[in-house]
Amino acid sequence: MDLGIKGRKALVNGGSAGMGRGAVLALAREGAEVFVSARGAERLEQTCADIAKETGAKIHPLAADHSSDEGRALILSACPDPDILVATCAPPPFTDDFRDVPREAMEESLRIALLSPIDYIKAVSGPMVERRWGRIVNISTGAAKYPAAMRVLSGPPRAALANYCHAIAKDLAAHNVTINSVLPGMHHTPGIEEVFGPRGAANGRSYAEEVDAFVKAIRIPAGRFGEADDLGAIVAMFCSDMANYVTGQSLVVDGGIGTSTF
Ligand SMILES: NC(=O)c1ccc[n+]([C@@H]2O[C@H](COP(=O)([O-])OP(=O)(O)OC[C@H]3O[C@@H](n4cnc5c(N)ncnc54)[C@H](OP(=O)(O)O)[C@@H]3O)[C@@H](O)[C@H]2O)c1
Repeated sequence: MDLGIKGRKALVNGGSAGMGRGAVLALAREGAEVFVSARGAERLEQTCADIAKETGAKIHPLAADHSSDEGRALILSACPDPDILVATCAPPPFTDDFRDVPREAMEESLRIALLSPIDYIKAVSGPMVERRWGRIVNISTGAAKYPAAMRVLSGPPRAALANYCHAIAKDLAAHNVTINSVLPGMHHTPGIEEVFGPRGAANGRSYAEEVDAFVKAIRIPAGRFGEADDLGAIVAMFCSDMANYVTGQSLVVDGGIGTSTF
């Protein structure tokens, strides 16, 4: 299916790996020109080169921390007027006892996962309104909707972001600018490998065995983790021309583990 975004300009913050990379790939396959930020230059440049080669799309690496003032200035000077904004970050660390989570960690997670996306939304939504076309998608977390004690650094800032986005979606809707969130459950990504690889090693298991044990322990109905590129395709769907009547929404993509009907 043609998503109707050929030639559109997209900015993907946090796109060198995982689900952000999946979104870059899906948008590039649709013929969008994509500006991609990440902090690590080497992986970023490799990702952009690989996707440009595979799709023939124009892909521009922007090595920067999207949550810092300097990073934001660099990113927005390279791409001040995207038609599409996709925002994500690395998964915040899993936590043990909530009483032991330092205030500094909470502040960092708010800065990266809430305040940074808001800064970009404010910067790019004006030009989108003027052009009467814009699509904004946050790659967020299922923990925003289904709170979990081990995800107190991840769920709360994203729940706040979903609330913020729903509120402003009402302002943007009349201008053909939509804003939605995808709330993933467990997916295979480099960020998740960094967590489950060492955890498996500590338990005498491979990454695959550790994931399998976790899937069984938390009873994911699909019986597996999701794939990052599939999630990226769902992000691209929200960026499509025809998704113009879907706004302020949060879509859970979790292999069926969520417990609400709507
Ligand atoms: N994977 C899962 O199972 C899962 C489940 C629920 C929710 N999520 C959420 O989904 C999002 C993506 O997760 P993922 O597993 O795909 O992560 P990932 O594999 O670690 O990839 C994260 C990407 O974001 C970039 N990034 C991180 N912080 C950045 C910053 N400050 N500025 C610029 N780029 C930055 C990383 O590159 P650099 O490190 O080089 O900057 C990388 O390209 C996260 O917010 C996570 O909480 C993931």
